[in-house]
Amino acid sequence: MSLAYFNGRFAALDEPLLPIEERGHQFGDGVYEFFRVYEGQPFMLEEHLDRLYRSADLIRIEIGQSREELKGIMDELMQRSGLSNGDIYLQVTRGIAPRNHPFPAVPSSLSLTIKPWRELPPATHQEGVGILLHPDERWLNCHIKSLNLLPNILAKQAAVDQGCFEAVFVRDGIITEGSSANFYLVQNGAIRTHPLSNRILGGIAREAIQRIADAAGIPFIEEAFSPDELFAADEAFLTSSGVELVPVVTVHGHGSIGSGVPGPIAIELYRQYAALTRQPAQG
Ligand SMILES: Cc1ncc(COP(=O)(O)O)c(C=O)c1O
Repeated sequence: MSLAYFNGRFAALDEPLLPIEERGHQFGDGVYEFFRVYEGQPFMLEEHLDRLYRSADLIRIEIGQSREELKGIMDELMQRSGLSNGDIYLQVTRGIAPRNHPFPAVPSSLSLTIKPWRELPPATHQEGVGILLHPDERWLNCHIKSLNLLPNILAKQAAVDQGCFEAVFVRDGIITEGSSANFYLVQNGAIRTHPLSNRILGGIAREAIQRIADAAGIPFIEEAFSPDELFAADEAFLTSSGVELVPVVTVHGHGSIGSGVPGPIAIELYRQYAALTRQPAQG
């Protein structure tokens, strides 16, 4: 069953847990992580925790729990929920204090939820999806996994309104990433994606795909590209921990990418990602 946790207390998901003066609620003053759990193991747990502590550092939040304590709480959440496959969201905020912009001298807050996987219809992976290109109206610290997702949410809704699966951001004529996923094109057998910088979130699924590509001898080129280069690409795809890898076959207002069906590299990478995440735990 789904379950929640807030500052030491486990509770049902629909139980009110957060005080009104919680800064995550009032300011979005915090950071978060999303972990996908496969057979009781959060995939690339250490990489997600590295990013969590890095994000918190960058907005000057000191996380009140050590890595081992966080892992312990995640373990207990998984145990209590009885879910061996699930989606865990973890939020750290600057804590609970009377509403005022400057940092309060209070401990950070920690909240988590676990739910069954949010499954996508099989057609998403098999047939691919459409995207909407959308101006990137976010701040210039997109490498921080901030709770502030308003531009992402607005862009995603604009995409959904047009019948698209995802909004893909364009800043200064360059494609950065999706509203909740990294974005790639494939041209002449090589993968191309925006380099790691303050303009994108360094995705953990991106890291996994890079490793898979390296091992398979598929060039993984970290070089930004324009919408015109995307339109001329052979293939395109999105990755995130939640959707894993989704082929992109159309761009709203433009038409098909490549032949308009998932390409061989996206299909092969997805096959290998699925094998990696679903393999039995090592030693
Ligand atoms: C803006 C953005 N970029 C990229 C990603 C992909 O990150 P990850 O692969 O770690 O899930 C996400 C995931 O939520 C995201 O929100």
